[in-house]
Amino acid sequence: MSDLFLHDVRLPSGERAALELRGGIIRSIHASGSGGPGLPAPADLPREDGRGLLVLPGAIDMHVHFRQPGGEHKETLLTGARAAVKGGTTTCGDMPNTSPHTTTLAALAQKAALAAEAPCHLLFNFGAAPENLLDVRQAAATPWVRALKIYMGPSTGHGGLAPEHTEAHFRQAGRMGLPVMVHAEHIESIAAAEGRFPHDARHHADLRSIEAELTAVHEALRMARDHGTKLHLCHVTSARVLDLVEASGIRERVFVEVCPHHLLLSTADIHGPVENRYKVNPPLRPEPERAALLAALAARIDGLASDHAPHTLAEKRLPYDEAPSGIPGVEYVLPFALAWWAEGRYDLARLIALTSGNVARFLGLNRGALEPGREADLVLVDPDARWTLGAGDDRVASKCGWTLYAGTPLRGRPLVTLVGGRVVYRHGG
Ligand code: DOR
Ligand code: ZN
Ligand code: ZN
Repeated sequence: MSDLFLHDVRLPSGERAALELRGGIIRSIHASGSGGPGLPAPADLPREDGRGLLVLPGAIDMHVHFRQPGGEHKETLLTGARAAVKGGTTTCGDMPNTSPHTTTLAALAQKAALAAEAPCHLLFNFGAAPENLLDVRQAAATPWVRALKIYMGPSTGHGGLAPEHTEAHFRQAGRMGLPVMVHAEHIESIAAAEGRFPHDARHHADLRSIEAELTAVHEALRMARDHGTKLHLCHVTSARVLDLVEASGIRERVFVEVCPHHLLLSTADIHGPVENRYKVNPPLRPEPERAALLAALAARIDGLASDHAPHTLAEKRLPYDEAPSGIPGVEYVLPFALAWWAEGRYDLARLIALTSGNVARFLGLNRGALEPGREADLVLVDPDARWTLGAGDDRVASKCGWTLYAGTPLRGRPLVTLVGGRVVYRHGG
């Protein structure tokens, strides 16, 4: 928690302003009409010059895999959090498929102890397991847990939860008002496809089809409806899922998350060397599906998340069946969101909704809006900066050290990140 006078920033409305941050909270916003940027800093506050940069709420990325404990050679909570703040993300929700799984209070406590070092807020999405309903109740009472994560199908480091256990967790979570995040891929559909296609990266999307995703989403919506559960659909890959959600009758308690890789990449992009770099669950889809999903971003999607899933290139070089699934990208969510704004896909209000506002409201976090009383998690952006991802002065900060997007020209760049009123990242500094 920190106190700061943030002088001369530009609000999303276009007004120049100064922000008074106290105790990690936005105390007041002095817009230019009311004396604004010229306002002298209160004598007791250190001053940060905003240099006329655009100020936004820090991004909230509720879907990251930081690998600690058990996979520290790929990422740790500290290295992952550093990569996050470099990209303007100030809250991360870490997933439970670490080793051990975060399905017990002991495993949760182990992560929580490590989180103190991290430069951003960390939340831990607690994992559903066959016999851990009581652990879920206890975990949800801690400040670390805002959601339950259920794997409805097998994925990296997780075999998928059986339907009867899934139903029991939906029922309990519904009673508790605890949002359930699902990885929706139908186990039996994946098993049925297993012998029908060659096992290689180019056929990954056949081995785990859109139909397998739709079947699982349909079932998740059914359970959410039956049990009054708030449902967060992770990494939706097809606009056909949006049709199901909109027809569900419970649209208001469903959160639709999409990830940059499903918006930017399709099966047509898969190429060597190391085709398994593109192996991710759920898979990249054919180009028309990608285009339709991106077209839906302006209106039908609730939020962006990275599904940051770092693996080493050595692991990705293994044969298809052994290579782990997942694409890293925690540091590039806000940069892509800014680039889409610069392209004119949506306005700044929508950018804030997609990167922080909607998910903050869904989970009850006091973040994701530039208002007095909100936590002072902020990012200062140069909206006109043109830069190249992964080149020049942009180095991949994630410990895995690679990105699929290297060479992408971008417009709009996060330069300074504040968490709880304290500067935790400064580009070039
Ligand atoms: O591709 C994926 N990678 N999908 C998942 O569900 C898990 C993730 C990981 O942890 O690597
Ligand atoms: Zn998943
Ligand atoms: Zn994931």
